[in-house]
Amino acid sequence: MNAVEARAKLVEILQFAFSGELAAGLAYRGHWSSVSDPAERERIRTIEDEEWHHRKLVGAMLKELGSGPDPRRERRATIIGRTLGVLCYVATWFPPMYGAGKLESRNIREYEAAARFARDSGNEQYVDCLLTMAEVEWEHEAYFRARVTSHWLSRVVRVWPAPPPRDEIRRGFAAS
Ligand SMILES: [Fe+2]
Ligand SMILES: [Fe+2]
Repeated sequence: MNAVEARAKLVEILQFAFSGELAAGLAYRGHWSSVSDPAERERIRTIEDEEWHHRKLVGAMLKELGSGPDPRRERRATIIGRTLGVLCYVATWFPPMYGAGKLESRNIREYEAAARFARDSGNEQYVDCLLTMAEVEWEHEAYFRARVTSHWLSRVVRVWPAPPPRDEIRRGFAAS
């Protein structure tokens, strides 16, 4: 892949991530306010804040790259995020925790891919920030995985595959 293609891929994946953070932020707002355990509320609330922070960082990258959010994706993310946020009140404890963990595992890979596109397009200045976001998503995934596997239903419902250890994010990037 040449630098021009990598740049196009970078913009595309950042637009995807930017809207994904919106959907996640809105969904987590519903999620933490719907759970009753104080520690869970606190942790998910912090995760929500981290998603808004990611959105800010990704938005700044898109702007610097002379691009911006994809309006269609933004509209979709708003609907999805709000719907999930409301559903958290209807659903029992397990489905939102499960859905969140599965989504977070995708977010890790998304930011890892973005870091590679940034490097390959000559935008090394974003690499560290993108890898750090992948690491934060790793922590989110680990949290929801731990919650899910603490529940008896995880012996019935197959839990999504575990991501490689956290250190692999930077090691894998350096080797790629
Ligand atoms: Fe995020
Ligand atoms: Fe996350």
